[in-house]
Amino acid sequence: MHVAVLGGETDFEGWRKAARALRLAGVPPERAAFRVGSGGDGLFDESLPPSSTDAAPFSVPKAFVDLAQDVLLHRSGDRFDLLYRLLWRLGSESELMKIVTDPEVADAFERAKNVSRASHKMKAFVRFRQVEDDTGEHWVAWFEPAHRVVEKTAPFFARRFTSMRWSILTPDGSAFWKGEALTFGPPATREMAPTEDEIEEVWKTYYASTFNPARLKTRTMQGEMPRRYWKNLPEAALIPELVAKSAVRTEAMVAAPAPEPNARLARTLSRMNRDQSFEEGFVPSTLGELDQAVQACRRCPLWRDATQGVCGEGPRRAKLMIVGEQPGDQEDLAGHPFVGPAGRVLDAALEEARIDREDVFVTNAVKHFKHEPRGKRRIHKTPAVSEVSACRWWLDAERRLVKPKVIVTLGGTAALGVLGRKVAVTKERGHGLDLADGAKAVLTVHPSYLLRIPDAAAKAAERDRFVADLERARALL
Ligand code: URA
Repeated sequence: MHVAVLGGETDFEGWRKAARALRLAGVPPERAAFRVGSGGDGLFDESLPPSSTDAAPFSVPKAFVDLAQDVLLHRSGDRFDLLYRLLWRLGSESELMKIVTDPEVADAFERAKNVSRASHKMKAFVRFRQVEDDTGEHWVAWFEPAHRVVEKTAPFFARRFTSMRWSILTPDGSAFWKGEALTFGPPATREMAPTEDEIEEVWKTYYASTFNPARLKTRTMQGEMPRRYWKNLPEAALIPELVAKSAVRTEAMVAAPAPEPNARLARTLSRMNRDQSFEEGFVPSTLGELDQAVQACRRCPLWRDATQGVCGEGPRRAKLMIVGEQPGDQEDLAGHPFVGPAGRVLDAALEEARIDREDVFVTNAVKHFKHEPRGKRRIHKTPAVSEVSACRWWLDAERRLVKPKVIVTLGGTAALGVLGRKVAVTKERGHGLDLADGAKAVLTVHPSYLLRIPDAAAKAAERDRFVADLERARALL
């Protein structure tokens, strides 16, 4: 038996190195084993047989590598062996990963699914508690993930809570963020994390007030919020009582007047700089205020998966406003509109139309990036009409503050956001349409549409039309 010693439970590189060496040396799965031990680096506690002479360097499908990275985070003790069996079989069955009915392939996919579910639950159920130390405010969470997903999931929290100093402690290891780089530390115990704070009380009050007994479906709720996570969720302590009272509350709810806003919650959120969009009637009076308030926006669900809200940028009194659809992947990370590939097309076209981007207020109809994950990529998704309508509130606020004379809309979503109705852009493009506030709208296509045209001649022609639309907008100024 050849035993590879790995550096840790999630030591993917160690496993990969050892498994590669084992396969090259022709060691079959039944003669290979893996264990986790100190000082391990994919090293063997017994020397390997020399590589067999016909052992050629090999590569494996990316699908296998992606799958293996997740499976390795599964808590099962035999995961290293399962992966090595698959790696071994890939030597003679190159299409193996496509045979989803194969019991070992199916087993690996099932474990990867469990890992990805555990990561999702971590995103949903980590609850930070506020502590003060000599260096100031610090947010600490204790979490017990179903699988070893701390390192996989920590980047999500770094993107979401960029400006907070936080630690997530778990029995597998801990993640720390001080505003610059993620670091990881040793396992922790529950006693190391604070248990209660003021925010928690507020959160419980908030949860109880938003808990809708009329919609109570206990089994669905337990599916979404499995019991294993309850003990670390402050609001979960309320669930049994709320469930028990639900029938009575349903009746009372029907009769009750609308509740007063929770003043304590509002105060706390205000301290966290998150209250403004919640306050009835709050109207930003500067672009800076608007930007802050967008970060707290909960008018539609898009904020959940975005890194931040991306507001418009440009002179406060710009005569020309350009409205795009929504921030893309790069804009979402950078916090600025049109800085990615579509932005480069736009910049070049503006230059050709002799418009200085510095003079333009550039914004989007929707302020949060709508996307869906595909592997490690985030794929753009077109915002729904309801999301565009919800975000019009912010676009209208930008229009009120900047008061542009001309607004260029890029694509259908932007036209919907500005005009408030669905438009066939290709039919109405290029004219100066009158808007209720006295400005003129010039409709044109979105620059990413130009990027997608495969035929070079058609692309050049469309690009000329796009530049011509921008020139028309300039002439209207
Ligand atoms: N596409 C848009 O519509 N807006 C951006 O900010 C970037 C890409």
